[in-house]
Amino acid sequence: MLNIAVIGATGAVGRECLALLDGGTLPVKRVTPVASARSAGRDLRAELGLARDAGPVVTLDGLDTDGLDVAVLSAGAEIGRREGRRLAAAGALVVDNSSAFRMEPDVPLVVPQVNPDALAARPPGGIVANPNCSAIQLVRALHPLHTAAGLESVVLTTYQAASGGGLRGLGELARDSRRALDDPTAAPEPGGPPGRFGQPLAFDLVPGIGLPDGSGFTHEERKLAREPRKILGLPDLRLTATAVRVPVFHCHSEAVHVRLREPVTTALVEDALAAAPGIRLYRDGYPTPRTVFATPRDRALVHVGRVRVEPDDPHAVWLWVVADNLRVGAALNALQIVETAVEAGWLR
Ligand SMILES: NC(=O)c1ccc[n+]([C@@H]2O[C@H](COP(=O)([O-])OP(=O)(O)OC[C@H]3O[C@@H](n4cnc5c(N)ncnc54)[C@H](OP(=O)(O)O)[C@@H]3O)[C@@H](O)[C@H]2O)c1
Repeated sequence: MLNIAVIGATGAVGRECLALLDGGTLPVKRVTPVASARSAGRDLRAELGLARDAGPVVTLDGLDTDGLDVAVLSAGAEIGRREGRRLAAAGALVVDNSSAFRMEPDVPLVVPQVNPDALAARPPGGIVANPNCSAIQLVRALHPLHTAAGLESVVLTTYQAASGGGLRGLGELARDSRRALDDPTAAPEPGGPPGRFGQPLAFDLVPGIGLPDGSGFTHEERKLAREPRKILGLPDLRLTATAVRVPVFHCHSEAVHVRLREPVTTALVEDALAAAPGIRLYRDGYPTPRTVFATPRDRALVHVGRVRVEPDDPHAVWLWVVADNLRVGAALNALQIVETAVEAGWLR
């Protein structure tokens, strides 16, 4: 039975972790919610309507690491970098949701449906990285295509929800939407903070997530190019992305153009996707963020629709991929990493 700390328990991802642990299949002895000093003492069982008693929120300084089996870190890269190695040295398996360790050579970057072998043995540093939320749903859709016909290159555009900006992002979209409806001519608050998305998101699109580097690509786009190569074990895969923030509360969407080594038909691609675990394929119609967010079952799946092989090029396929970034793209993947470690037999 596992003793688990959820760090960042009051945040958008941490709350989903607590909800999934509440009704999940992991053998759990104790769950300790951890957040900043601002939240110390909060009763998340009452706030979130949990069945399991999690006890009051504690700070990292107040967390008892004696006998701690797992620490799921969802508190940003700075805290990941500061606390990840310390918690791992204390004996816990650390699953970090931030970008802090993803590209470190001794840290496996894992999507259990794609590269579970990376967890065959306990990683030497005791840390496993959870990939970027958009990368997780992307590789879940790409993996069956790679197995069927070999990936050559991928070009995608993401349509990322406000929840990707955490609770602050969700709050900003709600507030800015109300403000824009009340007064469509209102300018952004003069002198106000730039906000979670760099500008108000309501009724607009923001074609830039994260800061651009010298090449013009943003951090998010860089992560989307790098991380799938590591997860899929394809270091030379050609992959490039444009990341767009959209005024949708939950669930990221992606338009993905894939070139395959072997020629394919739409039926072959659809059959490969339909047979993959945790994918819901739409042979007719298509998933949207709202329909996917509507039920807990759909929030746990990757949804793929609009599969189109180009009529003039049987090596080229378009996909439309939607998934809940807080669950599939973060909390659920993190807990499935823990589940995979338990199944592999090395997590005490
Ligand atoms: N949102 C997504 O879709 C998504 C997807 C994949 C990965 N991630 C990653 O997951 C992490 C959390 O994201 P989020 O969206 O959940 O953010 P969030 O809603 O802003 O939550 C941040 C959490 O971190 C906690 N925290 C802040 N400072 C802390 C400290 N000094 N000690 C302990 N806890 C502290 C906060 O606690 P307080 O409430 O006390 O401030 C809160 O619980 C980030 O690294 C993010 O990149 C997010």
